[in-house]
Amino acid sequence: MKILIHTFGCQMNKLDSELVAEALVAAGHEIVADEAEANAILFNTCSVRDHAEQRVLSRIAHLRARKKAEPDLRLGVMGCMAQRLARELFDKAPHLDLVCGTRKFPQIAELLEQSFAGPVLAVEEESLTAPGTLDAHGRSLFSGIQAYISIMRGCNNFCTYCIVPYVRGREESRPIAAVVGEARALVSRGAKEITLLGQNVDAYGKDIGSSLAELLREVDKVEDFVRMRFVTSHPKDITEELVKTVAALPRVCNHFHMPAQSGSTKMLKAMNRGYTREEYDRRLEIIAKHCPGALVTSDFIVGFPDEADEDHEQSVELIKAAKFQNSYVFKYSPRPGTVAEKKLVDNAPEEVKKQRNHELLSAQEEVNCARSASLVGSTQEIMVEGISRRDKTRMTGRTSNNLICVFPAPEDAEALVGKLVTLKINACGALTLIGELQSR
Ligand code: 5AD
Ligand code: SF4
Repeated sequence: MKILIHTFGCQMNKLDSELVAEALVAAGHEIVADEAEANAILFNTCSVRDHAEQRVLSRIAHLRARKKAEPDLRLGVMGCMAQRLARELFDKAPHLDLVCGTRKFPQIAELLEQSFAGPVLAVEEESLTAPGTLDAHGRSLFSGIQAYISIMRGCNNFCTYCIVPYVRGREESRPIAAVVGEARALVSRGAKEITLLGQNVDAYGKDIGSSLAELLREVDKVEDFVRMRFVTSHPKDITEELVKTVAALPRVCNHFHMPAQSGSTKMLKAMNRGYTREEYDRRLEIIAKHCPGALVTSDFIVGFPDEADEDHEQSVELIKAAKFQNSYVFKYSPRPGTVAEKKLVDNAPEEVKKQRNHELLSAQEEVNCARSASLVGSTQEIMVEGISRRDKTRMTGRTSNNLICVFPAPEDAEALVGKLVTLKINACGALTLIGELQSR
């Protein structure tokens, strides 16, 4: 079959789609990019907010006419929405052939085959601890310089708003040797930047007697890559040892994606985040102490039930005090089955959510503008990632602490991809530093 995979959601989903593609190609199928050419279309989905689910449902609804005209066209939903809604998806979209949950990815090729005999529902309901990873497949389809490796799956935290623990199951770390082996394979295919992925990477190894710090040291033994990153860090699990390890390993980037979600202890408690505002501030201090120059990126939720103006103000104040590299702000979206959805009332009007969303983003923008302006005139080392998608005459890359930089593409642009270069910064936008090549 010619199969197209549409991916929604986080980096983990993008990686899962790559691994599913890998499994499908191993079974003799072909991956295509053009929907018209495809005779199977799979949606890898996200359930974190209602909006993400609605988008997928409308895309699927649009395919109804084509499915009618082409009954052999395979339509499948996989990932978080498949896990969450299971059979219900067939009610919402009766023209679907396959619903494949997060723990059934490895069987995807077989399931697709079976669907010619009738709709297939493959969702692990009993135990989300059943082995379900796609580790068995290689990474033969990988190309480019930025590679992702899943180091663990699932989440044990049950933040009250979050659907992830219900759709991704419990934390499960991959063995160090498997991660290192995958890093080697990716590097041999040209990877220069390796990003280790997990819902909560700081919990890595708890179930196998290891730690993220140890994993970083082991992956760092692999030669011939330039940089390593890891996401997402949970403030309650990030350790001093980890921060020191990041500082000690030059190839590990000085950047932590450590979502605060709120600046108010009252909200953090209601969210079951497992830390207070003071504890979050303490983590920032530890990072600043051992990794000077490191930047932290955060996520925030606005309009969580009972969030008062003063709670919101504390989030604004946190953004200004922490001077985050960036903040991603989300309007609270009740997820069916979560504690917040069952026990709390979604009592912030949409207008209030919008307003708070806007206020956090503008506080962050102020931080960004001030930082960017202060860096004009400085020299920055970046790893060149490629030609800028927005402006083909420019190249783009990032500093170790995740600042985006652009510079005019030289004639031998391709030769710079994946290399460390230094730039002299001479102008800026809020989130972009603009420079010229100083040395390579
Ligand atoms: N509503 C709004 N935002 C959410 N997030 C997770 N669940 C929800 C929800 N129910 C946000 C959190 C998390 C990011 C990936 O998505 O900020 O860090
Ligand atoms: Fe969701 Fe909290 Fe787990 Fe992150 S740590 S995936 S927000 S439950």
